[in-house]
Amino acid sequence: MEKTSIHGMWSSRFAFILAATGSAVGLGNIWRFPYMTSDNGGGAFVLVYLLCVAMVALPILFAEIAIGRRGRRSPIHSLMDITREDGVSRGWVGIGWISIIAGVLILSFYSVVAGWTLHYSWLYVKQLFGGAAITDPGLVFAELLSHPFELTFWHAVFMVLTMGVVALGVEQGLERAVKFLMPALFIMLLLLVAYGATTGHLGAAASFLFNPDWSKIDGGVFLRAMGQAFFSLSLGMCTMMTYGAYLPRDVSVPRVGATVALADTGIALLAGLAIFPIVIGFGMAPTGGGAGLIFTSLPLAFNSIPFGVVYGLIFFLLLAFAAWTSSISLLEPATAFLVERGVSRKTAALSMAAFCWGLGLLSVLGFNHWSHVKILGRDIMSFIELIANDLMLPLGGLLIALFAGWFISGERMREQLHGLPAPLFTLWRWLVRVVAPVLVAVVLVRAVI
Ligand code: PHE
Repeated sequence: MEKTSIHGMWSSRFAFILAATGSAVGLGNIWRFPYMTSDNGGGAFVLVYLLCVAMVALPILFAEIAIGRRGRRSPIHSLMDITREDGVSRGWVGIGWISIIAGVLILSFYSVVAGWTLHYSWLYVKQLFGGAAITDPGLVFAELLSHPFELTFWHAVFMVLTMGVVALGVEQGLERAVKFLMPALFIMLLLLVAYGATTGHLGAAASFLFNPDWSKIDGGVFLRAMGQAFFSLSLGMCTMMTYGAYLPRDVSVPRVGATVALADTGIALLAGLAIFPIVIGFGMAPTGGGAGLIFTSLPLAFNSIPFGVVYGLIFFLLLAFAAWTSSISLLEPATAFLVERGVSRKTAALSMAAFCWGLGLLSVLGFNHWSHVKILGRDIMSFIELIANDLMLPLGGLLIALFAGWFISGERMREQLHGLPAPLFTLWRWLVRVVAPVLVAVVLVRAVI
């Protein structure tokens, strides 16, 4: 009898691909990737990013899905079973704990930003019915940030949506949501790229994205590109491990893993190609856009094009959808853990969501009442992002790579990675054993000292 998960299973290979791509594609691709690129030297950042995906993230993605499928439980419990079966130190279970903490931290601010997208969608719905146009997007964005109540409200709406899906479980909740949301997202993105192409600035955008200015590459760029690769592929916090736990035995991990990585990277680049032509077309510098980049630049374009209001609505709904399929994957690992401890799924999802919501209020207040609070020169949200995305995810990924490469039974790993020809398995093994850990360690050490 095939071992299955008590939480339910993906109904097919395709369902897993949708769910895992849904997790990977999110604010990380459409909000964070463009502004990180903008702030970190354009093509130089993109190049380092692609390198990190290929050399570090992809092998770790395989490892996470494979470990999850072998364990078939939430990360902490799977790691407990595996360390026991293979006679390795229980210390490795710590990876599962780091992942819960990172997930909680990320979801706390993720939901706040996703709330912005809901707020903007709402502004466009109102505009569609005769409400005021966003004539000064910079002002509208600054106003939003200065109102803690408004921010908290949308943050709450988004968290309730996330919790609702997770409370319904793997088949009824997660799988049903992604089957509807992912195709919608893809269509909306294509519409937007088509618009970007008509602005006549696609070439300038492409050259900004793909012509590296070598002088911009330094340790900081490496750290942020690496953090972004982990964040965008939902790695280093056992999300993919959790989704792997629900993956049927006969599906090839390398094949689905590679598909997810390609889709995620492709969509980040497409998002760049949709957004930068607009930024450039409206006379804004593509560099130094900051976290407000898409909220302050795109509405300008939507104002002055035919059917701009409809485009605006589509764009911000797209972002909200993308964020939704990611946030459910941020909540699922901790929820599954509590369910395995005897808590009902609904209570588990509700209590974790409530906790993350509460923590998110710190990010909310950091934009207004506590805007004077600066930690290492950053506002509260950017500080949490730094700790969680740029430090905890790479650290989690480093540990997962070492565990998968050196400690877990190689035979069992090979079984899980069936479909990978022997030479590629050996290549994968050395990537997780040496290349990925060394690269991550160098970047982390350089960042800290
Ligand atoms: N990958 C998601 C995004 O790009 C964010 C995420 C990170 C989701 C970690 C789950 C785990 O938006």
